[in-house]
Amino acid sequence: MRLFVLFLLSIISLNTFADDGYRLWLKYDRIQNEALRKTYAQKLATVSINFSDETSKVTLSELEKASLGLLGVKTKLVGSNASLVLKKEILTDKNSEAFEIKSTKNQIVISGNTSKGVLYGVFELIRRIQTSESLENLKIASSPKIQLRMLNHWDNNNGTIERGYAGMSMWKWYELPERIDTRYIDYARANASIGINGTVLNNVNASARFITAEYLGKVKALADVFRPYGIKVFLSVNFASPKILGGLKTADPLDPEVKQWWKNKADEVYKLIPDFGGFVVKANSEGEPGPMDFGRTHKDGANMLAEAMAPHNGLIIWRAFVYNFDPKGDRFAAAYNEFKKFDGEFLPNIIIQVKNGPIDFQVREPISPLFGAMEKTPVSMEFQLTQEYLGWATHWVYEGPMFEEVLKTDTFAKGAGSTVAKVIDGQLFKYPLTSMIGVANTGSDRNWTGHPMAQANWYTLGRMAWNPEITSEKIADEWVKMTFQSDKKSTETIKKIMMESREIYTNYTNPLGVHHVMGESHHFGPEPWVEKAPRPDWTALYYHRADTVGIGFDRTEKGSNSLAQYHLGLRSKYSDINTIQPEFLLWFHHAPWRHKLQNGRTVWDEMVTRYYEGVKSVENMQRQWASIKGKIDSETFENVEARLKTQHKEALWWRDASVVYFQKYSKMPVPSPYQKPARTFEELKSLVDVYHVK
Ligand code: GCU
Repeated sequence: MRLFVLFLLSIISLNTFADDGYRLWLKYDRIQNEALRKTYAQKLATVSINFSDETSKVTLSELEKASLGLLGVKTKLVGSNASLVLKKEILTDKNSEAFEIKSTKNQIVISGNTSKGVLYGVFELIRRIQTSESLENLKIASSPKIQLRMLNHWDNNNGTIERGYAGMSMWKWYELPERIDTRYIDYARANASIGINGTVLNNVNASARFITAEYLGKVKALADVFRPYGIKVFLSVNFASPKILGGLKTADPLDPEVKQWWKNKADEVYKLIPDFGGFVVKANSEGEPGPMDFGRTHKDGANMLAEAMAPHNGLIIWRAFVYNFDPKGDRFAAAYNEFKKFDGEFLPNIIIQVKNGPIDFQVREPISPLFGAMEKTPVSMEFQLTQEYLGWATHWVYEGPMFEEVLKTDTFAKGAGSTVAKVIDGQLFKYPLTSMIGVANTGSDRNWTGHPMAQANWYTLGRMAWNPEITSEKIADEWVKMTFQSDKKSTETIKKIMMESREIYTNYTNPLGVHHVMGESHHFGPEPWVEKAPRPDWTALYYHRADTVGIGFDRTEKGSNSLAQYHLGLRSKYSDINTIQPEFLLWFHHAPWRHKLQNGRTVWDEMVTRYYEGVKSVENMQRQWASIKGKIDSETFENVEARLKTQHKEALWWRDASVVYFQKYSKMPVPSPYQKPARTFEELKSLVDVYHVK
């Protein structure tokens, strides 16, 4: 009997110390510090609320979950004299999502202009408890700086996810609308906790099926689940839908029948889902249909759809990711060339959605020149959470510092201080519409994101969209504390790895700004040797241009002159090969191998150094991770430990393949103390097949 009890106890304790990651940052395990727990428990002993709707229900239920889990108390709902008061009232800040938290000795009051504001306030309070903050004398007033804070799922109706590395789609279309998976609710909770208020359910390479009556019924079911959490649904649409679904002969945006078809479709959507967000459109990009198929322009296409949506206050989010028009030119310049000329000609319910960089979600890109160029048309930010070019789900890359770098970049559009953050939050050009989206990294994997640490990227998107001026370090700090609820040393160690991880990945994959040298089409591992692809701008050679003289893409006046798309202040940071920050060097210059950098090393030596140091840093990540063994739950520990091993193996592959390949051009030795890679070029090339990614 005694043995049996011991056995049971050991199972229980093992279980409590194994975490499958499903609960994300809303972990709510009991706070260990008893004094602190008691203080919080007193403050959450009773609650009153002055409104009753669907949102109030989910707010109270979240509060109950959190206080039961974190504090071991069941918050009691009372009519008056509550220790926690939730109320709808008119605030000084009229933003419909704003909230205030004020506390006196005996009471905390959370108020909002709407129930949604109160919900956000409650999540803020919970976050403060999770991160052991004091709740004394609070005087918080907060409202989002960006209106639309969204995830874009690249999910297909057959359950696959374009560039998804965390399992299959979470949306079980075959079960909807009848069955609501509880995961949808946890998804909504997680999003609401970080202020995400929109979700685009499907892939930008959109199947027309999503707007059939059958699918709209399913979409409505999801919209109903998300609504109490303040989340609106959006859909990506296929521009050729009038042909595909409507049987029309054309999808020409100026054709009256086409216009009518879209109007009817918009009416149908809004009849079912009155608060539907809008349509996202990828048109005339990478083979997707669009207005140019009919001799029209992006402006014609976007405006036609915007007209159909306007009566319902629906939005058109038109993506600027286009590079079709001149395959021989510089792809860097394509989006600007296509959209700048229409600035001011788009209807008011259109947002032009721009990827952070001019190419495609590389680990480091200079900003897209469209930020700072569109004064009369709202442009919004598209970041990518799924790590298409960032090592899929085996490389640990905390993207916070990358987002921060982008948002802090000065466009100089209205003189110094015209940061990207100020462009997209609407301050700079007074945009009436503002938005930031992240291409989701979620899937059906139990822990949502495959790599446990990739949850942080989802978390960060929400927090930065709420406030684009918040630092990535502050976010990392919150996320680690909430996710691990561990001791100080461990949280500091994890945070340190996170903060360094993006630069480390950059070093062993894309040092000095060499870019687009990954595997062709699958985008995994190194393939700098790709010289032929269906399009020249899908090769690696197109971007790195290595030859016996040097390496890099000359985008100065002597080259493609794409640099001219930036305002002078930013342009001059990049135009001089001698003063440019080395991290961006090969984005803008064809630098001779023997060109000396400010640290005295040649370009070749510096590249090689970064490849080797990058790999060493992964070893250091492994050592640091090993040092917290036993301090965090075993399941996450082992999961990350294993992924770090893979990351190390792949970092070595990146290093060796890149050094061996580029050495064919530089013809310079691997500088000491580093040893020349032992593997041959052929061996390294064949690794793509070994990893089965083709
Ligand atoms: C990248 C990605 C595609 C995606 C595209 C887009 O090119 O590889 O899979 O469809 O971006 O953003 O539209």
